[in-house]
Amino acid sequence: MKKEKYSIAVVGATGAVGNEMIKILEERKLPVGKLKLLASTRSAGSYIEFYNKDIKVEILDEDSFKGVDIGLFSAGGTVSEKFAPIAASAGCIVVDNTSAFRMDSQVPLVVPEVNPHAIAQYKKKGIIANPNCSTIQMVVALKPIHDVAGIKRIVVSTYQAVSGTGKKAIDELQDQTRDILSFQDVECNVYPHQIAFNCLPHIDIFLENAYTKEEMKMVNETRKILEDDSIRVTATTVRVPVFYSHSESVNIETEKKITADEVRNLLSQAPGVTVVDDPASARYPMAIDAAGKDDTFVGRIREDESIEKGINMWIVADNLRKGAALNAIQIAEILVREYI
Ligand code: A2P
Repeated sequence: MKKEKYSIAVVGATGAVGNEMIKILEERKLPVGKLKLLASTRSAGSYIEFYNKDIKVEILDEDSFKGVDIGLFSAGGTVSEKFAPIAASAGCIVVDNTSAFRMDSQVPLVVPEVNPHAIAQYKKKGIIANPNCSTIQMVVALKPIHDVAGIKRIVVSTYQAVSGTGKKAIDELQDQTRDILSFQDVECNVYPHQIAFNCLPHIDIFLENAYTKEEMKMVNETRKILEDDSIRVTATTVRVPVFYSHSESVNIETEKKITADEVRNLLSQAPGVTVVDDPASARYPMAIDAAGKDDTFVGRIREDESIEKGINMWIVADNLRKGAALNAIQIAEILVREYI
């Protein structure tokens, strides 16, 4: 028999994504019975509001998951590697926002607008992975085009907000901006260089192939979600001094010719996508407009004149919402509706 209410745990409840998860659980009215808020000893004992009640943050430990139906994890890869299997063996289905399990063949990697059917695979390990923020917004926009015209190659450059790094990075951009404008020295604690008034072509660690781990996440996760290993993807990921929302310049080459108008029509009917594409009146997607919204915004749609079958576009979404918390909660909604 179906439960009326579900017990949910948010792991990393005091973080940038965890906070957003708690807000979205309330906004979308998930049938939450008990909400467990978990973090480290640093913030255990503090309170977070949920439906006008203050809920105490508890220390994450081996016993945190007894009786919990769904665990929304966003406390970093090391925490997930250790605690996701512990939660799963206690019968808690884990929706993991870190990269710890994304490329595990026994773990589905899900964007509800793109491959909701993959959720069924959660039974293998009790874990569902939430993709990388930049990958989510890109595949939401590209899936309808891939279905119609067959995408052969993707060239993407990202302009990623600091909130993707977490709360400390939001503070660092704020502090550095203030210090520079008041002629003080800046302190760099989170990033290797000053992020205020700068762009860093460096997200996550550098790998042996000279790409960053973030760039390779976009390559590998895109293929897994679109269930097509033949798609060639190359990425350059850049951190920019923006607080919320990632922007992406995306160039695709397709099997079949598709015009810019056809792409505009397709995307205007696509789930989770809003087309903002009226250059004559200076209307295109912008980070400041996407922040706080659920949709992925697409504009600057135009044919790539350097090749026969190519499209350029500009894709923007709130990295904490569609890029992380919202996508995880959409997965939880499907679990509740169809599986548990
Ligand atoms: P805490 O507030 O106790 O440090 P962000 O990505 O914004 O930096 O947030 C990271 C989140 O993950 C925070 O909620 C943080 O809790 C939590 N976290 C980090 N390390 C651990 C850990 N070892 N155990 C439990 N929670 C952790």
